[in-house]
Amino acid sequence: MEVIKQVSTIRQRVQAFRCGGKSIGFVPTMGALHEGHLQLLQASAQENDVTICSIFVNPTQFNNPDDYKLYPRTLDQDTELLKTVGCDVLFAPSPEEVYPQQQPLLQFSFGALEDVMEGERRPGHFNGVATIVSKLFHLVQPHRAYFGQKDLQQVAIVRQLVHTLSFDLELVCYPTVREEDGLAMSSRNTRLNEEQRQIAPSLYKGLKLAEAQLRKQPVAVIKATVAAYLESVEGVELEYFEIADPSTLQPVEDVTNVQEVALCIAAVVGPVRLIDNILVNLN
Ligand code: PAJ
Repeated sequence: MEVIKQVSTIRQRVQAFRCGGKSIGFVPTMGALHEGHLQLLQASAQENDVTICSIFVNPTQFNNPDDYKLYPRTLDQDTELLKTVGCDVLFAPSPEEVYPQQQPLLQFSFGALEDVMEGERRPGHFNGVATIVSKLFHLVQPHRAYFGQKDLQQVAIVRQLVHTLSFDLELVCYPTVREEDGLAMSSRNTRLNEEQRQIAPSLYKGLKLAEAQLRKQPVAVIKATVAAYLESVEGVELEYFEIADPSTLQPVEDVTNVQEVALCIAAVVGPVRLIDNILVNLN
């Protein structure tokens, strides 16, 4: 596996792959790799001639400076893991390499898609995501790009970005990989202590509780049940629980004639903010 740190080098390598007729699969990450990332990489390795992974803790998408500072950085370990899943190139640039000048950031607008949930609670977050993902797509020029359903709103934003800016690639959304107790894998989980780790699966439990009540109870009652459940778990602070349309992510007030919903949750456990979601087919 080749490790590339320079923008000019990744450009050259990508051009060589493209000229050689190779299909390129791309998995953008912020590192601290876990099984969720590795499954995306394995899918890419199976479906493409060449797989490129990027590791870049993108400063422009953090709305909380402490979260950026404390985000786990484990590049050596990540490099070893990548060698086991068929990754061909790791692109791991420095912040200076990606953002060479102090420039005003581009401003994206995703309309209603960013007015809810993560967009509403993390101002500027999706602007930073759209900026870095656009840059990376230009540099890596993938045929397929792999994203996790774990960050459902991010997938919706990137889908709109690809469509609006006419990126010539296929977006692949991969199901959420979980720990045995249901906790969605996340790089931030490593910041939980033992006690916090014990209670963190309550987000997923809340989602499953809601799923069991869909079509049996009105939306408002389901929301109140989930809120009451999470309030009963000491050490968890619920930020939101939403029942949303899976593509527009707008809240669904009545599920009577709806085919599929996304149940989405965010909560703070100890030092970290966790998110999770499940898609439920109502047919
Ligand atoms: P990061 O949080 O490192 O996630 C990289 C990719 O892995 C994302 O597409 C994310 O949805 C996916 N992922 C994370 N946990 C997962 C899990 N448990 N199961 C399946 N997939 C999972 O998301 C980002 O980085 C950044 O915002 C990025 C897109 C790289 C832009 O900076």
